[in-house]
Amino acid sequence: MLSKEDNELLTRVDRGSPMGELLRRFWTPALISEELPTPDCNPVSLRLMGEDLVCFRDSNGSIGILDAYCPHRRVNLFYGRNEECGIRCVYHGWKFDVAGNCIDMPSEPEKTNFKNKVKLTSYPTFERGGIIYVYMGPVGLKPELPDLEWAYLPEARRTATKRLQENNWVQAVEGGIDSSHISFLHNRSIGQVVNEKSPIPRNKYHAQDRHPVFEIEEVDYGLRVAARRNADPGKFYWRITQYLFPYYTIIPPVGDFETSEGQPYAGHAWVPIDNENTWTWSFGVNPTRDYTKEEREFAGGQNGMWGPIDENYHPLQNSRNNYLIDRDVQRTQTFTGISGIPNQDAAVQESMGPIIDRSKERLGTSDAAVIKFRKCLIQLAKDLTEGKEPLAASRGHLYNVRSVSILLDDDVAFSDGAKNLFLGGNIKSAAE
Ligand code: FES
Ligand SMILES: [Fe+2]
Repeated sequence: MLSKEDNELLTRVDRGSPMGELLRRFWTPALISEELPTPDCNPVSLRLMGEDLVCFRDSNGSIGILDAYCPHRRVNLFYGRNEECGIRCVYHGWKFDVAGNCIDMPSEPEKTNFKNKVKLTSYPTFERGGIIYVYMGPVGLKPELPDLEWAYLPEARRTATKRLQENNWVQAVEGGIDSSHISFLHNRSIGQVVNEKSPIPRNKYHAQDRHPVFEIEEVDYGLRVAARRNADPGKFYWRITQYLFPYYTIIPPVGDFETSEGQPYAGHAWVPIDNENTWTWSFGVNPTRDYTKEEREFAGGQNGMWGPIDENYHPLQNSRNNYLIDRDVQRTQTFTGISGIPNQDAAVQESMGPIIDRSKERLGTSDAAVIKFRKCLIQLAKDLTEGKEPLAASRGHLYNVRSVSILLDDDVAFSDGAKNLFLGGNIKSAAE
């Protein structure tokens, strides 16, 4: 439970709000490179943290992310012409480069220097690993880019996609670190005897122990959320999710968990569009080998595991069609009757309303990670209002981590038993 004041502080992302300012201290995933595929391609509209932006790749390949509204009479530059190293407003022809400088003002007499006095807000960008990031914070405080493992892998070993989620970003992150819902929301074996020889052994443990014990470790970059389940005699099954300030979670691998090293895994980022909408990013990571064509389509395609989505990354299963819930399937096969893990997550999280009233919640022991996450984030935002900058923003190398799922003897602490598995294979960071 949170007070109404803390709930406001946690969830509001507008410029000038404590959390909005905190988020603006970090690089923010803005676009997938495929959205701006070539020089002078079509511009793209983007809304982040309540700000309307226009994005374009100029004739030299440089990326501009600018205030969407032309400073002349406030036309949206999305309708503009992306040509000869700038975007030109279609109303009276004013043209802006990627830095927001007005470089042509054909509607004014040639002699005037008015164009030199006009500038449009432009945000720094960075493209790495198929993702375009933007920095929307104060000039002079530009952070380090997070050294996420997937950002350094060759294209053949990573995937990235995103989808619209119609609720506040915090309740989406809370879903990402809430390991206890796996046994319910995503359960696909209603009415079946658990298969002891399941190729995915974790399914057995999730089904047979539905109230994991949480241990949460605070680290410089965020949290390690460890969910412990009873496994075979003398053993615990640990599922350790990483939360990285402020947007990211890394999901433990699925397969043979004796060692997580080298297995494909997935990560998420939850990026606020505004107070009531979120981009849910999903990353597929295959550190040791290339994806096959089928695996790539499943991990990243429009109709893959994060879909189905349309060409604007909007999910086809959504609240307008009740996520295509099938009540027969719900009775006999799966817990929800809704197909697709991301659709199941979206259904429950969007059903809470755009912003949960956290003063009305009744939290239990399985909500330990959610409670800790809120506390940490609120503290960072309050610290910033008192002038203390977030450490993780200036420590990109901290982000080179993986999540772990592992079976350990019941007298071994997860922080010991899994300690060699947390570091990612990012070569740059390893060399530092
Ligand atoms: S409104 Fe853009 S040039 Fe006039
Ligand atoms: Fe989930």
